[in-house]
Order: sequence, then C-alpha cells, then structure tokens
Amino acid sequence: MDYSKAIEEALKKYEELLLGQLERVERINSSKETTDFSKLDRIVIGICGGDGIGPVISAASRRVLGSLLADRIKDGKVELREIEGLTIENRAAAGKAIPDDVLAELKKCHVILKGPTTTPRAGDPWPNIESANVAMRRELDLFANVRPVKVPEKGIDWTFFRENTEGGYAVGSKGINVTDDLALDYVVTTTEGTSRIARLAFEYARRNGKNRVSIVTKANVIKTTDGKFLRICEEIAKEYPEITTDEWFIDIMTAKLVDEKRRTDFQVFILPNLYGDIITDEAAEFQGGVGTAGSANIGKRYAMFEAIHGSAPRMVNEGRAKYADPCSMLRATVMMLSHIGFQTEADKLSAALDRCMFEEKKFVITGRDNGATCEQFAEYVMENI
Ligand code: IPM
Ligand code: MG
Repeated sequence: MDYSKAIEEALKKYEELLLGQLERVERINSSKETTDFSKLDRIVIGICGGDGIGPVISAASRRVLGSLLADRIKDGKVELREIEGLTIENRAAAGKAIPDDVLAELKKCHVILKGPTTTPRAGDPWPNIESANVAMRRELDLFANVRPVKVPEKGIDWTFFRENTEGGYAVGSKGINVTDDLALDYVVTTTEGTSRIARLAFEYARRNGKNRVSIVTKANVIKTTDGKFLRICEEIAKEYPEITTDEWFIDIMTAKLVDEKRRTDFQVFILPNLYGDIITDEAAEFQGGVGTAGSANIGKRYAMFEAIHGSAPRMVNEGRAKYADPCSMLRATVMMLSHIGFQTEADKLSAALDRCMFEEKKFVITGRDNGATCEQFAEYVMENI
C-alpha cells in the first residue's frame, strides 16, 4: 500500500495543530491580566440560559441573585445581564460552538452564570459543532474547573481541581482520520497549563486548612503527557511542605472513592481534564447526583459558573423540564458570589441550600411530578435565606 498521500495530508493537519498549540503556549506564558473584583465600580454578571432544562434552572438562580443583590443592583454596583443566543438553534445556524456576537457579549461581562448547553453528537439533527462549554473554557482561558462535593454525614468533603483547557480537550474536535481505518486524537500537556492548576489547588489547600492533596493521572501508561503533568505537580508540591501530597492512578482512585474506609482521607484532588470530567460525576453521585453539584471555571481574567451536568433533553422530551433540580445552578451561584467577593451572600445562600437539601427537606426534587417543581424549590430556598 502507498500511504504517502494520506501521511502528507495528516502531517499538514498536524502541523496546523502544532502551530495553534505553540501559539497558545506563548499566549498563556505571557498572560498577566487578572481581575481584582474589589477594585471594580460595577460588576457585570452575564446570565446565559442555555438549552434543555437550562433556562428553567438558570431562572431560579437569576431570581435568587436578584433578591440577594437587590441593593447592589439598585445602586448600580452590580448588573445582571441576560446574554441571548447561546442556544443550540443559534449555534447550529452560525455553525459555531459560540457565535461571534455572543462571544463578544460574553467578553464584556466580568463573570458568567451559564445554564447547560446541548452538545451535538453523531446521529443528532444538529451539525457536529464543538461543545459550547469546551469552546467557552478555551476562548476565555478558564483553566481551572473547581468542583466541590460534600456529604457531611459520610465524612466526605472533597474539592476537585480539574485542568480545564488541555488534555484530550485541547484539540478534541480536531482529531485526524488518517485513512478510513485509522483515526488519531491528541492529548496536550503544557508546563504553564499544569503549573497554574497545580498552584491554584495547593493555594486553596493552604488557605482552607486542608493537609492532603492527591494528584491523579494515568502516568504509568500515558507516559509523556500524564508523566509531565505528574512531574510538574510534584515539583510545585515541594513549595507546600506542610501539605501531604500523594499520587494515584485514575483507575484505582475511581475505585477508592467507593471505599468507605479510605475515601474520607481525601481532601483536594488535581487531575488532567478527562479524568476530572469522569470522576466528578462519580463523586457528585454520592451527594445526591449531578443535579446537586455546581462548578466554577476559573481563569485569570474571566470566570464562568455552571452546573456539572448537561441539558437533560430526555427530561424536556418527557415534559419534565419544570421538575428539574436547580441545586446545581444554585451551588454554582454560591461559588460565583464567593469569587466576586460577596462572601456574606454566598454563605447565606449556601446555608439556605444545606437546610433545604439536607435538613428540613420540606420540598424534595425528584425530577418527576411526584416531587417539587424547580420554581417551588427556588421559592423555598429564598424563604430560607
Ligand atoms: C462537564 C461536561 C462537559 C465536559 C461536556 C458537556 C462537554 O461533561 O462539564 O463535565 O466534558 O467537560
Ligand atoms: Mg462531565
């Protein structure tokens, strides 16, 4: 067989990928711009409804924010800004993960609260565009995905620091079909990309009195990229001698999270993108499911807060959207309030959620008509603030 043409074409695409990534490395190496929220006269919070159950659960967050920040909104210190157009219909029409005009609007906000967005997959009626989440994380350079999971009665108090722009996601939609029989995807690890997530995790641990950080990779097999990730994390760990650092492979860590005797030892985790994606769904399940878990996507300049789950088209198709659980978005809202420096409001909302979700449980969300509606639950949370 003569593969020279196939190889030549693949090499051309590979060269483009390399150039793109090298440019990105230069950009992140030199990026210095950070946002100091305490110095802003006015904080603009962009709210994107998204798709599926997104608009329903985002509306709950919007109401809660409107009430918690009423005075600041009245004084013009905070603006809640609806960002239209991040819907699958719009994205499909533009043929882009995020239409240009929507991206421009997002960049005018300081932080974003985002409902889940539908990611087309093969066989869907939509064109095969990239995930809006993945695109937003990349475009706004939101390098850290911070996902807390807490189950007080089981002694679980975990915070996951998932690297959010690299690994299998960096060029996830740019793999190459070399021939009909051979497909390749790529995994990317960079020095700065790893250093910045590791540092954020260790700083978090230090500031919050956590004394153990677990680095999770598959460096025994994915030797080059996971190997580099592990090496850099270990290097940075040396700057935090008061913190015990251990390393795990993702397969055994996935098992250990169900080991009731061991799992309470874990506190802070650092993981490459894909492992972080998978294990945080597992972890959220102990807390009551992905519908209960919020997530912060943090960059130096921007930050975006969202549920950890998708747009739940099945709930919409079965007419159950109004029974969607707003807790994931409300937990994301807590993280956002804390990020922009409104710690009192964050604590109030967090305490109200704990009361409604774990203690009093006057309304319970089941996702079906035998449980509370999203609106009822949001109302219940507001009464508890
Ligand atoms: C998440 C989601 C996304 C991801 C999807 C929707 C692309 O699963 O935020 O964990 O894989 O990152
Ligand atoms: Mg996920």
